[in-house]
Amino acid sequence: MLAELDLLQSEALAAVTAAADAPALEAARVKYLGRQGALASFGEKMRAVPKEERPAAGKRLNEARSAITAAFDAAAPALAGRAEADALAAVDVTLPGTPMLPVGALHPLTQLQDRAVQIFRRLGFALADGPDVEDEWHCFDALNTPPDHPARNEQDTFYLPDGRLLRTHTSTVQIRVMETQPPPVRVIAPGAAYRRDEVDATHLAQFNQMEGLVVDQGVTLGDMKGTLEFFFSELFGPGTAVRFRPHFFPFTEPSFEVDVKTPALRGGERWLEICGCGMVDPAVYAAVNARRGDGAYDAEVVSGYAFGFGLERLAMTLLGLPDIRLLVENDVRFLEQFR
Ligand code: DAH
Repeated sequence: MLAELDLLQSEALAAVTAAADAPALEAARVKYLGRQGALASFGEKMRAVPKEERPAAGKRLNEARSAITAAFDAAAPALAGRAEADALAAVDVTLPGTPMLPVGALHPLTQLQDRAVQIFRRLGFALADGPDVEDEWHCFDALNTPPDHPARNEQDTFYLPDGRLLRTHTSTVQIRVMETQPPPVRVIAPGAAYRRDEVDATHLAQFNQMEGLVVDQGVTLGDMKGTLEFFFSELFGPGTAVRFRPHFFPFTEPSFEVDVKTPALRGGERWLEICGCGMVDPAVYAAVNARRGDGAYDAEVVSGYAFGFGLERLAMTLLGLPDIRLLVENDVRFLEQFR
């Protein structure tokens, strides 16, 4: 009996050592320690053992059970740990993760606008704003645009039933700013503008402009040229040439169109008309003063310049877009190229 128990114990301990994983260990545990296992059947055999040998045999049986139980208990955590290590070994932690949410990006037009704003910020310009729904006075009258000017035509401008309109340019913000703040003024105003244009490859009914206005004592045409030359050179990069061509705008005198020739645009072989600008017309100051009820914008004391350009056209030339509508269709196959 005692020899049999010795044999059983060493067999059980060998089974513990041999178990390669948690299920094998559990199978061995059932075989030796289970309710119908080897040790349980020894308990039954005890009845056949002569009375005087029973205490020694019982003691040995308990010792064997404790030793085997201890061996199983000790082996279990090690095997569980190994299972985890094996699972982890199959994982390459240096691989990139699976993206659950793709990272988005700003719209190419927004990226361009942000770049433009950053350049003007370095030149000390502040951001200004005005409403998209405007009145005729801010959009035309105060900007010295006479009642018979073609831009005021119902074919060109979206009028609301109450006589207000969707601003046809961001130049309205010039007036909004001067109405509410005395000189000096040094602002840019990015924003939407609206025209009743037939939508095609080069026209949208809603588009974006960036307006600029500087008014102070002693501001000259030279300041305007220097500022815009610097701006477009920064925007388009090295080798950019800027030229000013005389033009007409009702709200500036003299007025110019700015052309840019740069390696960044279509190989840089031709001049591209890109911006309107000029020295603020005294008639604009007069309109603002009348509304303000003071003489803060006295054309004998202050002078200034204004400029405005369209962002879509700039984006089209910079990015080489064949169709302006790509900028508003929100096709991710297009937008994904500008992350
Ligand atoms: N408002 C003009 C347009 O919509 C652009 C422009 C021209 C703005 C000359 C100006 C300027 O501030 O001085 O085409």
